[in-house]
Amino acid sequence: MCGIIGYVGGKEALPVLLEGLKRLEYRGYDSAGVAIHRHGKIITRKSAGRVSALEHIIAESDGESMVGHSGIAHTRWATHGAPNDTNAHPHCSADGSLAVVHNGIIENYRSLRTFLEQKGVIFKSETDTETIAHLIDYHYKDDLQKAVRTALLDVQGTYGMVAMSSKEPGVLVAARKGSPLIVGVGKDEYVIASDAAAVLEHTSQVIYLDDNEMARISPEGFRTTTLDDIPITKDVEEVEWTLDQIELGGHEYFMEKEIFEQPRMLELCMKGRVDIREGAVYLGGISDFARELVRAKRFILVGCGTAWHAALVGEYLLEDLVRTPAETEYASEFRYRNPIINDGTMVLVVSQSGETSDTLAALSEAKQRGATSLGIVNVVGSSIARETDAGIYLHVGPETGVASTKAFTGQVMVMTLLTLFLARRRHMSQRALDHFLDELTKIPGHIETILAQNDTIKEVAQANIDKENWLYLGRGYNYPVALEGALKLKEISYIHAEGLPAAEMKHGPIALISDGMPVVFIATKGSQYSKILSNIEEVRSRGGHVIAVATEGDTQVPLLAQHVIFVPDTPEPLQPLLTVIPLQLLAYHAAVLRGCNVDKPRNLAKSVTVE
Ligand code: G6P
Repeated sequence: MCGIIGYVGGKEALPVLLEGLKRLEYRGYDSAGVAIHRHGKIITRKSAGRVSALEHIIAESDGESMVGHSGIAHTRWATHGAPNDTNAHPHCSADGSLAVVHNGIIENYRSLRTFLEQKGVIFKSETDTETIAHLIDYHYKDDLQKAVRTALLDVQGTYGMVAMSSKEPGVLVAARKGSPLIVGVGKDEYVIASDAAAVLEHTSQVIYLDDNEMARISPEGFRTTTLDDIPITKDVEEVEWTLDQIELGGHEYFMEKEIFEQPRMLELCMKGRVDIREGAVYLGGISDFARELVRAKRFILVGCGTAWHAALVGEYLLEDLVRTPAETEYASEFRYRNPIINDGTMVLVVSQSGETSDTLAALSEAKQRGATSLGIVNVVGSSIARETDAGIYLHVGPETGVASTKAFTGQVMVMTLLTLFLARRRHMSQRALDHFLDELTKIPGHIETILAQNDTIKEVAQANIDKENWLYLGRGYNYPVALEGALKLKEISYIHAEGLPAAEMKHGPIALISDGMPVVFIATKGSQYSKILSNIEEVRSRGGHVIAVATEGDTQVPLLAQHVIFVPDTPEPLQPLLTVIPLQLLAYHAAVLRGCNVDKPRNLAKSVTVE
């Protein structure tokens, strides 16, 4: 949510910043802006809309004026103030000598604004960020870092921010509290950014700033301190991701690329963890907590959005196979409901980005109440990964499409591995484990089989494209998949969709079913197969248009459904890894056919770093 980039070095800053903004655009695309230091002045350009709109404005203005070797830029997901030119970052002091980009929320901005207005400051925008720019300016004498530090003492809320002053050429000052910032350390150049995607083109060597830390960057080098000005030495770490992983590679959208790379990514996720010959699961990241996990009396899983759906699959897995009570909570609710954490409660924190604000807040609540926490996270070095006691990374590569796909299957895969790891130590027989492991290794190949039906799935989307209300129904392990299928459809195609446990339909939602309404059933073979056939009959008899996901070789479902998409047979606990794939493709095609920008759905952001 909101992308930040800053550059200091030998290259021309503007192209570096614009390219970085494009890579960060998935974090927000309400407006974009850039500020360049040139001949003792700060030159700022900003625009509502996408980075392309900003480029257009720059191309139309005097290009010469933007030539310089240091600058900052921002792509915005609006919180305070409409997404227009004025509210776009960077925000500047009254005389334009100081510019700031910021991600997060300044909670006490109204009182700070009143204070500054009383001192004669005239505000231009409605944003909380503008208060920081004026506040730093108010404290500025001749040292930007000192002014930023003093200003931040009065600020309540969250920030990942970078400031520059026309009086200190080539100096950028960054500070972090609750919103990620990294410093890319290149050869005689530095890139500060809100995530690694914007840095990779220049260097894979990074420093992760922690909360309450600052960095001062200049052509001479960088210095890191706490907000109280105590010098700290940070390790320079290597980012694992490569540039081709964050490029489209011939696909029209990142979402398409990420759906199609799931077989390979799940292989990576299992690599070194599934040992068929030994019949064992190895999870290095939790080895110190293995005993505690095996003895856990209760699991609480927290997450948001797609991660919450994956967590729900985890709940089913842990209760079914480990036989330990588990419950899934929306991170945003968990925090405020006075949760009960007893001895033996383990909290599993599920997140692709590792930066979701609600999830981080839930983690901190759990820690305060004494829970041991485990991260199930994709982004290495992210806040959740660092703040949990232990964790298991997804290793599915960077996910750029706002609609999460491979992270969902990665999260489910990790929770399956964790479940098998624990179940074998509790009461699962070696034979049963061997069977699951054997079936797990077939999953990537099975997904390939489903992906090969892409054209059929596109036809299903085409046939229903004018329908504005859809239902998704599943039972057992496939109930969370129904929720995820509905979420995918609504978030990228703006079609209203609801996911429900199939049996709940008759307690109300059945009233919605009218002639031709698309109802997606996950009707694979399993313990509830006959029940779901009855549910399909109930929908058919009311005129619903049935789209079914069924097991290969099934002869009954095709007699009842208008469209059938087949998935290979696999044990019930592994089915979500397969049944979600056709639903991802269905949503993808529906959105493309309706002319929607799949990777940048309206009002959404990839990583929601505000509560
Ligand atoms: C946002 C995204 C969702 C994502 C959710 C949780 O709402 O649009 O796709 O599932 O955040 O994100 P996380 O990074 O914590 O998994």
